[in-house]
Amino acid sequence: MAAPRILSGIKPTGRPHLGNYFGMMQPGIAWQEKGEAFYFIADYHAFTTVHTPADLRDHSRSVALDFLACGLDPQKAVLFRQSDVPEVTELAWLLTCLTPMPMLENCHAYKDQVAKGVVPSHGVFAYPVLMAADILLYNSNIVPVGKDQKQHVEVTRDLAEKANRLFGPIFTVPQPSIVPEMATVLGLDGQKMSKSYNNTIGLFEEEKALRKKVMSIVTDSQPVEAPKDPAASSIVALYKLVASPDQVTQMEADFRAGGTGYGDFKKRLFEGIWEHFAPFRARRAELAADPAILDAILADGARRARAVALPTMERVRKAMGFGP
Ligand code: AMP
Ligand code: TRP
Repeated sequence: MAAPRILSGIKPTGRPHLGNYFGMMQPGIAWQEKGEAFYFIADYHAFTTVHTPADLRDHSRSVALDFLACGLDPQKAVLFRQSDVPEVTELAWLLTCLTPMPMLENCHAYKDQVAKGVVPSHGVFAYPVLMAADILLYNSNIVPVGKDQKQHVEVTRDLAEKANRLFGPIFTVPQPSIVPEMATVLGLDGQKMSKSYNNTIGLFEEEKALRKKVMSIVTDSQPVEAPKDPAASSIVALYKLVASPDQVTQMEADFRAGGTGYGDFKKRLFEGIWEHFAPFRARRAELAADPAILDAILADGARRARAVALPTMERVRKAMGFGP
């Protein structure tokens, strides 16, 4: 069997947090050994909310650096900016014309905004179609994502199947890949970690800021002496992501035994996070020292991405009845 094509994207709406890392970046980096991996900075998607040009540009570069620092190998994987292959917006239009409105009305990003009383932009409404275009443009088999993106991959599958029925086998039907233990990383308040809930822990926080955030994790008010339930604590859930199995067993035992306060557990969690990301911090500083390195990686990524995207678009235009 040919090596699978793996593809995923991350929005440059700010710096990545532990949810992004464990939900998508780390699994994505593992996949680069098993197939042809394509990862992109979803700047068109971020433009639904980021309307300050300097921020969009800076965040795009900085998320790319973060991904590289965490181990994305540009020799193995293709790292590119979504907007460097603008054909994706053409494909998004073609797919838009095949998309029933109710399918999008049912999608969570749009529904959440409506529920909050915000008037959603057309971009937010059409967001899953652009995501489908990303996935189908590159003939992707596997899409590593956190659980919140599963619905969007299902929309993509529906659209690919519909197009294939109407126009012949033009698209590869993709599958999501979700690591169960990392499907939803919890934030400081115990809800899903998300930029929009303001409850995130960034991968590359300054030491003092990181400590402050970890110490602010919401807990119940049990006294130090009380035995505590490790399964109910987001401190333990986060510690599992960064600590060794022995360290986790120790923390769970200390929870059950009583006699240790939440403040002490939070200090252990802080140490765990700080140490886990230490090698990545060093690598990031090296990469950031010479902006030409990133420019060259993104230019090469754009070239390799276009080499796949342009033939797809030719095939799709022809099958759908465009051109001579
Ligand atoms: P975004 O920043 O929305 O572009 O998210 C990039 C990736 O991170 C997507 O695959 C998300 O599913 C994943 N992700 C975001 N938040 C979390 C979370 N709290 N837990 C697990 N995965 C997440
Ligand atoms: N919508 C994804 C998110 O918010 C980012 C994304 C855009 C994506 N296009 C994609 C993920 C294609 C996987 C495949 O996290």
